[in-house]
Amino acid sequence: MPPPLYCVTDATVPATTTALLAAACAARGVRFEEVDVGRFDPCEEVELRAGDLLFRPAVSYAAVRVEQALFAESVATFYASGDALCFDGAAAPLLFARRGLPIPRTVTLLRNDRAQQRRAVELLGGLPLVVKVPGGEGGVGVMLLESWASLVSVLDHLFATGRTPQLMTYVPEAIHWRVVVIGERAVAAYRNHPYPDDFRSGPSSDPADYEVPTPSPLTALAVAATRAIRREFAGVDILAHASGRLYLLEANFPCYFPQAQVVGGIDVAGAMLAHLLEKSERLREPR
Ligand SMILES: Nc1ncnc2c1ncn2[C@@H]1O[C@H](COP(=O)(O)OP(=O)(O)O)[C@@H](O)[C@H]1O
Ligand SMILES: [Mg+2]
Repeated sequence: MPPPLYCVTDATVPATTTALLAAACAARGVRFEEVDVGRFDPCEEVELRAGDLLFRPAVSYAAVRVEQALFAESVATFYASGDALCFDGAAAPLLFARRGLPIPRTVTLLRNDRAQQRRAVELLGGLPLVVKVPGGEGGVGVMLLESWASLVSVLDHLFATGRTPQLMTYVPEAIHWRVVVIGERAVAAYRNHPYPDDFRSGPSSDPADYEVPTPSPLTALAVAATRAIRREFAGVDILAHASGRLYLLEANFPCYFPQAQVVGGIDVAGAMLAHLLEKSERLREPR
């Protein structure tokens, strides 16, 4: 009998996500065991067995804690190693840069100092530029500032509310790719199109925009970004500039993988489960 998949869920998880994972499990005879964060009892000891599968599509702080409580080195997850569970995603741009991966030039501001802001803007090549407040999703917290008046008024507000905004070079006229990585392989890639009257982009509803990519600089960068955040599954956002240059924006874990499956017809949930089962087998092998 294959091991069960423990899936940490809460209200943040779209129904499609759990439905696709449950279907992928059913197709392989894997028991799908939902762990509802709202009902999790931290006083009760739960011990997963060696080789069991564990995935957390939920993104709440509590869900992360539940996943940490359930984790053991002998459990098959998308983490490259156990300490990756406690890894801080907001530090990712720094990690990417240290590994030599191409990101738009970025400066994280730590205090509200105009002289420093002037130096930062100069270093980034001037206005317009992008201000990012980490932690948002769907482009919320990613802002395009085109004048000094806009920039300083937005920064004043962000510092007053305790943020440490990132200033980032604006990459114009680029194609925004989302690449879904599992293990060392890009299993899906699709274009995101700009929303009307916006510089931010979202996933296409045209199946023709979705592909199972062959290896390329784009997929190599996505795989390297996933490795950098110590995951074996991620949705990686990359801007491809007309010059051919690639700019890595972020590697999301967990990510909304149903997009590529429901619109693009690519069996991402199946590939996720295959990866976990393979890992589980390795973990259960006698050493
Ligand atoms: N430096 C940039 N230059 C141009 N567009 C950007 C830049 N950074 C982000 N964007 C746009 O903003 C959107 C959201 O950015 P992203 O880093 O993916 O944040 P989120 O976490 O909200 O998904 C992207 O889809 C992209 O189109
Ligand atoms: Mg994104």
